[in-house]
Amino acid sequence: MEQGDADIIAELRGAGLIGASDVALEPLTGGVSCDVWKIETPSGPIVVKRPLAQLRVAAEWLAPVERGTSEVRWLRRARGVDAQIAPEVLAELPTGHAFAMRFLPGCPVWKDELVAGRVDAAFAAAVGRGIVAVHAATANNDADRAAFPNDEMFAALRVDPFLLYVAEHDAELAPALRTLAADLTARKIALVHGDVSPKNILVSSAGPVFLDAECAVYGDPAFDLAFCTTHLLLKAVWLDDARLIEAASVLVDTYRAGIDWEDSAGLLLRAGQLTAALLLARVEGKSPAPYLTDADHKNIVREQARALILAPSPLDALVINWKRTYP
Ligand SMILES: Nc1ncnc2c1ncn2[C@@H]1O[C@H](COP(=O)(O)OP(=O)(O)OP(=O)(O)O)[C@@H](O)[C@H]1O
Ligand SMILES: [Mg+2]
Repeated sequence: MEQGDADIIAELRGAGLIGASDVALEPLTGGVSCDVWKIETPSGPIVVKRPLAQLRVAAEWLAPVERGTSEVRWLRRARGVDAQIAPEVLAELPTGHAFAMRFLPGCPVWKDELVAGRVDAAFAAAVGRGIVAVHAATANNDADRAAFPNDEMFAALRVDPFLLYVAEHDAELAPALRTLAADLTARKIALVHGDVSPKNILVSSAGPVFLDAECAVYGDPAFDLAFCTTHLLLKAVWLDDARLIEAASVLVDTYRAGIDWEDSAGLLLRAGQLTAALLLARVEGKSPAPYLTDADHKNIVREQARALILAPSPLDALVINWKRTYP
């Protein structure tokens, strides 16, 4: 057993989550940015998550480990909005911004469901409702703004790698991407999760459960909508499946129905611009979508994304017009 693992076990004992007997740390899949383990305890299975200082990606990419604490705050706040949409945090551990949460048994991640061809529009609608519920509950709220002052983290993990990195490598798109990055950074509207991707959403019988809120920031809610929609549109190209575009459309519609803090047309236009930029970032950026390896798939995404960055479209129209094969 590694020294770090022994520390985790000692700290779980200290928190009263496990007794004196031996326990095994079972690594869970994922782990680009964290060590994640499942552990059997007397009161049921738990998950322990500990952020890494250096992300496991090809390009060097450092990230402050304080993001573990941001995630705990997001999970607690989201459960305050709706207890079904996030796992219960059981303890924050003393070192390394690690924490323990309840393990949800029998819940696949949404990505695996989609890849297996199980595309459930009703679930996509529930994802839209879940995202917008947290945004609506936290919009223009001074306490939430004060609790998530994570601009530096959001810049390092989202704005720089996804928007500015691409701008540095593309002179034609640079002005639009830099303007977009500045606008995203400046808007302080609601609590943003920051990583709403199908691989971070568990499919439970009660609906979606959102995980992995390390990038949580008080910022522009359009980002979460754009981030999740981007993943569905990329997968529509990869899997050549029109149902994924319909799922994105339903998600956008239910999200829009929950916007009660600002004019929805303005938000959908920002989300359309961000989606265009994020789509391009997933083929050109620092964190390319691992499954988009086919040159044709990349070109289909690249061509549409570049055109949409130069001539923005509101997100609902963007989704409806998205092509999963060459136009
Ligand atoms: N509370 C939980 N209940 C059930 N499964 C969980 C729970 N938390 C995490 N998992 C599983 O562990 C995986 C990794 O968790 P998480 O996404 O939080 O970690 P991560 O290191 O940030 O992952 P990645 O960088 O790959 O997104 C999830 O995709 C999910 O399969
Ligand atoms: Mg994850």
